[in-house]
Amino acid sequence: MVLLVRALVTQARHRVRDGACGVAPMGEESMTKNEAKKEIATLRESIDHHNYRYYVLDSPEISDAEYDRLLRRLSELEHEYPGLVTPDSPTQRVGATPLAAFREVKHSSPMLSLSNAFDEDEIREFDARVRKLVGEARSFRYVAEPKLDGLAVEIVYEKGILSVGSTRGDGVTGEDVTQNLKTIRSVPLRLRPGKLGAVPSLLEVRGEVIMRLAAFRKLNEEREESGEPPFANPRNAAAGSLRQLDSSVTASRPLEVFFYGIGRAEGARFASQLEVLTSLPTMGLRVDPNFGLCDSLDEALEYYRRMEAKRDKLSYEIDGVVLKVDDFGLQEELGTISRSPRWALAAKFAARQETTKVLDIVVQVGRTGALTPVAVMEPVSIGGVTVSRATLHNQDEVDRKDVRVGDTVVVQRAGDVIPEVVSVVTSKRTGKERKFVMPDRCPVCGAKAVRLEGEAVSRCTGMACPAKLTEAVFHFASRRAMDIDGLGGKIIAKLIEAGMVKSVADLYALDKQDLLKLERMGEKLAENILASIDRSRKTTLSRFVYALGIRHVGDHLSRVLAAHFGTLEKLVAAGRDELEAVPEVGPQVAQSIASFFAEKQNVRVLEKLFANGVRVSGERRAGGRAAGKLAGRSFVFTGTLEGHTRKEASSLVEALGARTSSQVSSNTDYVVAGKDPGSKLEKAKSLGVKILTEKEFDRLVG
Ligand code: IVH
Repeated sequence: MVLLVRALVTQARHRVRDGACGVAPMGEESMTKNEAKKEIATLRESIDHHNYRYYVLDSPEISDAEYDRLLRRLSELEHEYPGLVTPDSPTQRVGATPLAAFREVKHSSPMLSLSNAFDEDEIREFDARVRKLVGEARSFRYVAEPKLDGLAVEIVYEKGILSVGSTRGDGVTGEDVTQNLKTIRSVPLRLRPGKLGAVPSLLEVRGEVIMRLAAFRKLNEEREESGEPPFANPRNAAAGSLRQLDSSVTASRPLEVFFYGIGRAEGARFASQLEVLTSLPTMGLRVDPNFGLCDSLDEALEYYRRMEAKRDKLSYEIDGVVLKVDDFGLQEELGTISRSPRWALAAKFAARQETTKVLDIVVQVGRTGALTPVAVMEPVSIGGVTVSRATLHNQDEVDRKDVRVGDTVVVQRAGDVIPEVVSVVTSKRTGKERKFVMPDRCPVCGAKAVRLEGEAVSRCTGMACPAKLTEAVFHFASRRAMDIDGLGGKIIAKLIEAGMVKSVADLYALDKQDLLKLERMGEKLAENILASIDRSRKTTLSRFVYALGIRHVGDHLSRVLAAHFGTLEKLVAAGRDELEAVPEVGPQVAQSIASFFAEKQNVRVLEKLFANGVRVSGERRAGGRAAGKLAGRSFVFTGTLEGHTRKEASSLVEALGARTSSQVSSNTDYVVAGKDPGSKLEKAKSLGVKILTEKEFDRLVG
């Protein structure tokens, strides 16, 4: 839910900021500032409550959509009454201006590190040390916790409101990452009174910022797809995401926090670690629920073994357990030695690394055409799981690690993350090892594979490559591209699986008999799909160029290219230099376009498209390049405009290449809402169509 809600909130916020959906209160006439204040307070309380249910109790009471509605309503009200915005409002998680550098923060008491134990004997030695210091006659217990593998942070709450958040740094001084921490939804912006009954006047809490494995994998996939270097592990991903000068980058990363301790506290007293771990959640500060109490060394060892066995089942990485003497009085007696407390121990798990031999390096092609080198290895068991393949990410990574076929390598498995080659055991080299070179052709379809300037990943340029065909057809049929209504992902997958569609051109050769062969396809649906396909045959140059799915050529750039070149022939014939001369086209995009049209496979698909009846109309108008600015767009006007008559506004957009319509549909690109808009506005909202105020419209048409 976290990601989904974040996306929705961001969307909602953008919409409000754009002024696109206006700030008119839901149905009400207008409200007084006092009424707004009351509603804002109620909304904030409610949102805080639901955050607590979701993040701390792990037991949400409302759906994501309902939660989003509350947030959106709050955003709307705060937009209307900016004076009522407070720093602890749930809307204030993003939006700070990027920093030039992080400010330093001195921790009021040092953030200590932990001494380590690497096996059970070392845990026994620690316990013996502690027992000797405490005195054999006195009994005590440990609190045992997972050792979270992330980044340590400290957050200061003054009178219950988050004031400063910092990284651990060297333990004495850290970096001020307040704005970034505020974007993490499991970090409360204000505390609840909790079981103490009142919010402490000052509370410094310490915890670990982490990224769950699934989120980490997804983030890395996205990074690899976009040519950015992947993070080596979830810890690096968490650290890299938190230490961003632009907090909106942090906001887009799926970070979470678990708290495990306190620094200074005023207005609250804690007698033990157990009291901390049970009090923090009541204040809204989430702790890892997997902690345990151990009355003896044996129980501590049992906890250590239990957590090691559980390690793979957790959705986040832990690299050991932390044993802490529970009683704070005893902790103080035991004291600290060289920056590590004598009362705590990090008992690390055995490393999940093994050595094995690289038998081959093969290339996998992803669904967007990315070529990924993969090491095929002699199977080896790492922590109970047999590993025989490991990703090498891209050519740069292979070169950096200098992995060769025949090498003995160290392989690492982290949670359920794809195994990775960590390093090469160069001492085992015989001289017969073979270097890997990324092929310049796609191993799946034989099309040219191109590594664009400034990118780390090579990609297949073939638009009919089986590895990326599903994505390519889906994109081709999408609304802003060829707009083939009714041709959804499932049908596309079936058409490809049945061998009826081997490239987008085959869509135009389908007949009813073909479609009826597909599972769950009725006459009516088949007819509708065929009619949509037929309708899409006649299209504009900008839509067509966009539909081809050329890397880096999005909706906007397609229109720029269409307006500049006017015809497909001219665009296809343009060389890199000519392409680079187009405003907004840089060397990377020029290379991408040129290599796309240079690929024979693509030329064949284009020819087949035309042979199957696709017709592309040119877009250049007599007025020159700007004339096509809104080419292919569709507008609907509703309500009264102040600066134009409806007719004038329509002519304006038509002159720029757009169409106008009186009905809002999923094909509508913009609804321009004037004064007293009618039901069209509601319809546009429900369809998610972009809504423009008159001011925004004026800006758009220039
Ligand atoms: S307590 C003196 N508890 O381990 C106590 N630390 O080497 C200091 N860590 O930088 C920390 N999980 O990032 C504590 N449950 C936990 C922890 C934990 C992970 C990390 C923390 C710290 C490092 C100490």
